[in-house]
Amino acid sequence: MDRNRDNVAVSALYTAATWRWAGFECAEFVTPAQSLPLFRWVNRVQSLYRWINPAVYSLPHQLLHRHAAIDKLLADAGLARVLELAAGFSARGSRCSRDPRCQYIEFDLPDMIRSKREQLAASADGRAVLARSNFELRAGDVLHVDFLADFVGSPLAVLSEGLMMYFSREQQMQVWRQVAQLLRVCGGVYLFDYIPLPDEPQRSGLGRFLHFLRARVFRWRGDFAYDARDRHEVRCDLHLAGFEVVDIVDTGQVAAAWQLPQAMVPTRTLIYVCKARRPL
Ligand SMILES: C[S@@+](CC[C@H](N)C(=O)[O-])C[C@H]1O[C@@H](n2cnc3c(N)ncnc32)[C@H](O)[C@@H]1O
Repeated sequence: MDRNRDNVAVSALYTAATWRWAGFECAEFVTPAQSLPLFRWVNRVQSLYRWINPAVYSLPHQLLHRHAAIDKLLADAGLARVLELAAGFSARGSRCSRDPRCQYIEFDLPDMIRSKREQLAASADGRAVLARSNFELRAGDVLHVDFLADFVGSPLAVLSEGLMMYFSREQQMQVWRQVAQLLRVCGGVYLFDYIPLPDEPQRSGLGRFLHFLRARVFRWRGDFAYDARDRHEVRCDLHLAGFEVVDIVDTGQVAAAWQLPQAMVPTRTLIYVCKARRPL
């Protein structure tokens, strides 16, 4: 994952600016100012990429539908405890913790958590969020945390948005096993997004040629840890990890019915809704 000089993931800055652009509540004080020029620059590069590969979806709309669909699924779950893994500069915790009945934990790498705390501390609205007893910023690495020791308690929603594409299958399985074990003890739901390679839109001929140059000639593999699994194989892996129920939501199929913002813009992000049964 590319990082800036503060060791913060550049992708988290881009998504933060997307939530601000999309008008998600609280994003106005959670979004670092430095992310806005990055958002504009990446979108210009994206426009060129989409000109070369016309089947590719608009990146900000993909993210917008992903974020809004997870918000809806979280609201539907109606759980009073939320653990958001890899929360980045998402404003979801600031929104949800306005309800004092909701206990919200944002978890991310230490430098990201430090930056988020600084960002919130820089405004009166942010300081009000930091002062809430039902809001917590917790630093750690999802690959090295003991979920059962740290998060056991009442039923909870575990979220990981924009994370699994950076992890190899082994790393995904490691996190999924731990989350399934936690939900088997506490009850609740795990929501995350992941687009397997076969669900990515086809590149054009020119796009395939440029991709070949990038990957084979310049040996630049990019940030994502793609493998050959399709969505059904990902579902099988989630079952193997311990989830009995795995539903897959395609934003392109639900955008209109769920009245997602800008629903008319086509997208295809997959959200996985996973449950692990508690023993009787
Ligand atoms: C693409 S950003 C997504 C941020 C946020 N979920 C959103 O959608 O706006 C990826 C996030 O994953 C976090 N991350 C990466 N590796 C991690 C790890 N091993 N443990 C915890 N967080 C991690 C990064 O710090 C970053 O905030």
